[in-house]
Amino acid sequence: MTVIQLFSRTVALLALAVLLLGGAPVAERLTGLGGAAMAQQAAPAGDVGKSDVWRAIRNGERGYVSIPNKQAGVLVQSEGENWRAFRNGPLSNWGVWGMIGMIGLLALFFVIRGRVRIEHGPSPRRIERFNGVERFAHWLTAASFIVLALTGLNILYGRYVLLPLLGPEIFSAITVAGKYMHNYIAFAFMVGLAMIIVLWVKDNIPNRLDVNWFAKGGGLFGKGNHPPARKFNAGQKIVFWAVALGGLSVSVSGVALLFPFEFALFGKTFAFLNIFGLGLPATVTPMQEMQLSQVWHAVVSLVLIVIIFAHIYIGTIGMEGAFDAMGSGMVDENWAKEHHSLWVDEVKAKEREAALSGGRASPAGDD
Ligand code: HEM
Repeated sequence: MTVIQLFSRTVALLALAVLLLGGAPVAERLTGLGGAAMAQQAAPAGDVGKSDVWRAIRNGERGYVSIPNKQAGVLVQSEGENWRAFRNGPLSNWGVWGMIGMIGLLALFFVIRGRVRIEHGPSPRRIERFNGVERFAHWLTAASFIVLALTGLNILYGRYVLLPLLGPEIFSAITVAGKYMHNYIAFAFMVGLAMIIVLWVKDNIPNRLDVNWFAKGGGLFGKGNHPPARKFNAGQKIVFWAVALGGLSVSVSGVALLFPFEFALFGKTFAFLNIFGLGLPATVTPMQEMQLSQVWHAVVSLVLIVIIFAHIYIGTIGMEGAFDAMGSGMVDENWAKEHHSLWVDEVKAKEREAALSGGRASPAGDD
């Protein structure tokens, strides 16, 4: 045996001795279980003490640590395993089924109903539906949402879909870039969302017309059957409220994920909901706050993505004349009369009023 071999063996033996002898106090400090458990360890039963310590650690017992990060006192955070299993299992699976299901439904609807045409044919007259500010707000929200959706879906599914296709180098570069885009473009989404809420909330208050609209299936399933609607019909109100409330919720949970351990949203929400006797967990640890924020962020985002599939379908191939509303802002008057008859009446009445009080002639032209 050479001197070097002898030396390294001695060092290894010494290290082992330090670990064995010093390990106990370290474990004690970390778990805070010291005294009793260690005493048991010395008892003839021996392993009973060890299993008690391990059981406590496994159950998330918090020990004492002197470093600033107090969470390091929890060695095994079992909820983390539940969170991971839910995220990579049911959450991911339901998301895929939701998206596939919606695409299937839209395809079926297209096959059965075809494109919803302007029944009275195109009119020579156009009417302003959304002004520049409204269209800017819409496209800011829409463009940022699409980037957030794609980069978010990559975080959830990229490793199953893109990684095998692109290989680790390209996938990693795309995912890192996507993560930065997701973090920063979120703020553009929040600005767009705030704008559309302010601009459109007054036109989206539910009323009795909505009940009739639903009763007639929105006029989508037959011809010559257009339920009256003001600026937004009941179907659009659902999209609006889903985007407004879902968007706010995704924004808040997203900010909680961007600034880890800064907020205690779920603890406070649960405490509030418990007033109604829901019996939700009264204490939520900072780590659980992060897990719940992630799950909530992903669930609400996936629901929104599924709803937006339907919205994009009806705004493009699904309905003749719809895209113009957000494209040029000017829609075909026959389209407007068929889908938003009461809104057309209101616009015309305003124009007549303006004309009578000496205002300018309107873009909608004469009646
Ligand atoms: C390519 C994507 C999109 C297209 C082609 C599109 C198209 C349209 C059109 C044509 C309208 C006006 C409908 C009308 O005149 O009555 C509209 C309205 C609206 N859009 Fe979009 N949109 C898209 C993406 C989005 C996204 C991603 C969001 C939000 C996340 C969004 C939110 C809204 C809301 C809240 C309204 C008002 C309510 C409604 O009409 O349903 N849109 N969109």
